[in-house]
Amino acid sequence: MSEPDSEALQVTIASPKGGAGKTMTTILLAGEFAAAGHKVLVVDTDPQESASRWYRNSKKVGFALRHIDLISVTDVTALGETLKSARHYSLILVDIQGTASAAMGAAVAYADFVVIPTRPHVFDVDSSLALIRQIELLGGRHRTIPYGVLMNGVSGIDKNTMAFRTALAQLTKAEVQMFDSYLSQRPTFGAIATAGTLYEVDGETRPIKDARDQTNAVAAEIINRLGSAR
Ligand SMILES: Nc1ncnc2c1ncn2[C@@H]1O[C@H](COP(=O)(O)OP(=O)(O)O)[C@@H](O)[C@H]1O
Ligand SMILES: [Mg+2]
Repeated sequence: MSEPDSEALQVTIASPKGGAGKTMTTILLAGEFAAAGHKVLVVDTDPQESASRWYRNSKKVGFALRHIDLISVTDVTALGETLKSARHYSLILVDIQGTASAAMGAAVAYADFVVIPTRPHVFDVDSSLALIRQIELLGGRHRTIPYGVLMNGVSGIDKNTMAFRTALAQLTKAEVQMFDSYLSQRPTFGAIATAGTLYEVDGETRPIKDARDQTNAVAAEIINRLGSAR
């Protein structure tokens, strides 16, 4: 991963579907980039405050969440202020819920990169494709906002199912930007969503190592894409 930058990179995590893995991805990336020495700000714009709960609970049970701060904002004005005053962070991760809010538009329009977690099912893919069209519009006439569809919750069995292959074929056909890496369905990820990061737990077990490798691959792809976009 590259060295921390002096000017904050803003990565927005968006998907039209609840449960697609936005907060999961946000939490994993926060831990990953913080471990690499980045100063990370998580901006939770979801009124359900899942990321905020993860943050509070982590601290309560004794995780330091070193290099990670979190702020909860629910309206577009507060989001704008937050993004402006957070330039001293090296990475800002914005977790957004839904596609209709003004905050969602701003979080995408100002993003350096948008991650779109998608469950490997046809209906989820359909709504992600609609979001991609929205992202293209939000870029306006002069900017192409870089984004990537990230398959989340993939299980070994899933990969051989018709649902998975149909979903993949649909994305390929639509010629959208896909991550090469993906996130498996893992108990380890589920546990981290409640508290902690993959780097503030004992890293010597196979499940933790595998979970780190997978998350690292996603982070590396983001850095790569940002590098080629700048
Ligand atoms: N790859 C995964 N492995 C295990 N559990 C996951 C995974 N992705 C998401 N989850 C769990 O599924 C639920 C929904 O995910 P979440 O990230 O909260 O979705 P969203 O923020 O898009 O609504 C959460 O309980 C989360 O912990
Ligand atoms: Mg969420």
